[in-house]
Amino acid sequence: MDLTTTYMGINLKNPIVVSASPLSENVDNIYQMQEAGASAVVMYSLFEEQITWQSQQLDHYLSYGVESFTEAMSYFPDLDDYKIGPEAYLNLIQRAKMAVDMPVIGSLNGVSTGGWIEYAKRIEQAGADALELNIYYIPTDIGMSGTEVEQMYLDVVQDVKNSISLPVAVKISPFFSATANMAYRLSQAGADALVLFNRFYQPDFDLEELEVVPHLVLSNSNELRLPLRWVAILYGKVPVDFAVTSGVHTSEDVLKSLMAGAKVTMMASALLKNSIGYIGNILDDLKLWMDEREYESVKQMQGSMSHQSVAEPAVFERANYMKVLHSWRPDPTGQLVY
Ligand SMILES: Cc1cc2nc3c(=O)[nH]c(=O)nc-3n(C[C@H](O)[C@H](O)[C@H](O)COP(=O)(O)O)c2cc1C
Repeated sequence: MDLTTTYMGINLKNPIVVSASPLSENVDNIYQMQEAGASAVVMYSLFEEQITWQSQQLDHYLSYGVESFTEAMSYFPDLDDYKIGPEAYLNLIQRAKMAVDMPVIGSLNGVSTGGWIEYAKRIEQAGADALELNIYYIPTDIGMSGTEVEQMYLDVVQDVKNSISLPVAVKISPFFSATANMAYRLSQAGADALVLFNRFYQPDFDLEELEVVPHLVLSNSNELRLPLRWVAILYGKVPVDFAVTSGVHTSEDVLKSLMAGAKVTMMASALLKNSIGYIGNILDDLKLWMDEREYESVKQMQGSMSHQSVAEPAVFERANYMKVLHSWRPDPTGQLVY
């Protein structure tokens, strides 16, 4: 059975990639990922703030709506202690490359163009096989238009692409008013792959302390539906490879993602919950499923359930939306059920 796939021109032995998470903070874990069967790892991100903090320059985008540099800095975790600094990050990539044969994908997390982008080059020099660019930005300024936000994304992608020769994947959020158009423009700005979707962590309020607290909830398989839909819509229309992240927990989730059109699936929550060895279970289940249904290769499945064969995708989406809403029926006890 042929589980191989390609991602941004890189040959991978299967479509199971470990997503950026604290699991890649040490080389032992990265080695264990390879042993468990992962085909590649995306390193946890090096943040723009970590880099600019070092040079004592906070980018102006991050200062939007805040009164002073000092107050802005107080929002962040102590950046001196935050994970490891840029130099140690590069060193970790070098050590990871020495420890494993599988591709190691560096990750930069930022929102603006600027000196920190130089680190793309340094990640390349450290030996990474590709770079994932996570653009995480919540446009809170009521004076900032969608066009400006989009341009910010495109500028970062273009600048990173211009500074390195590695393939670049861009991890985006689903919150664009015209996701399909944005995906296409990102491809034109140089993205080799799109990673759908970033999970936005929604903070909570602590009513006792009257403070905003970060509230991390791991995903579940229900969250897969959003990236699944968008990969199915964009497959064959936007000239990039697609990776699905958010909600990949089972072999069924992997199969669905491949059929929507993903080249790879990425997992973080499932491994944080079940341990790194869980990758082996997913691979076993995947092979079993393919064997029972006489599939010979992963490539055979990729895109088989995408929108490519749908003549009017927007109408198709509206029709499905109506079908779902009409599938609600009151049960005899008066409760609404499916
Ligand atoms: C604890 C934690 C840390 C994460 N750190 C990063 C990170 O540094 N960079 C990044 O791009 N994504 C990061 N992510 C997001 C994951 O890579 C992934 O895209 C997201 O969790 C959705 O996938 P999942 O459903 O498999 O968890 C993190 C996720 C978790 C849970």
